[in-house]
Amino acid sequence: MAIRIIREEGDDILKKISKPVEEIDDRIKVLIKDMLETMHHYNGVGIAAVQVGILKRIIVIHTDYEKEEPIILINPKIIEQKGEQTVEEGCLSFPNKFAKVIRPEEVTVEALDENGKKFKITGKGLLAQALAHEIDHLNGEVFIDKILPGTLEYVTPEE
Ligand code: NI
Repeated sequence: MAIRIIREEGDDILKKISKPVEEIDDRIKVLIKDMLETMHHYNGVGIAAVQVGILKRIIVIHTDYEKEEPIILINPKIIEQKGEQTVEEGCLSFPNKFAKVIRPEEVTVEALDENGKKFKITGKGLLAQALAHEIDHLNGEVFIDKILPGTLEYVTPEE
């Protein structure tokens, strides 16, 4: 396993559309392990494969490190969404930048797990936000392009 380099703001790859995974082979499995390790290393809530430079439709999400296991979603598709929430958001590709965005309050997603088994997940609150944010990445969309005007903040991390 390895922590991979995160592609950051200004890198054109972040605007590209990721391609569906056709076969979950060893390379994909290693990629998923590395995505999990990279997300955890940087204390992220989620990461998309494009953020480590791979244009495949894979995201991993971990909203509660203490109480939940991470969720791995391959070829995720939003099949239903409800309501709206205005939330504070950041992204590992935009270090130190935070802003408010509007996200659905509830999202239902269909995806494959790491064994290629189809499953459905419904998330509310932070999980809905993370699902919407990460699936946006697969479509070349980044949160900074949908922030509410005047809400951008720069937060310098404490060393
Ligand atoms: Ni992001």
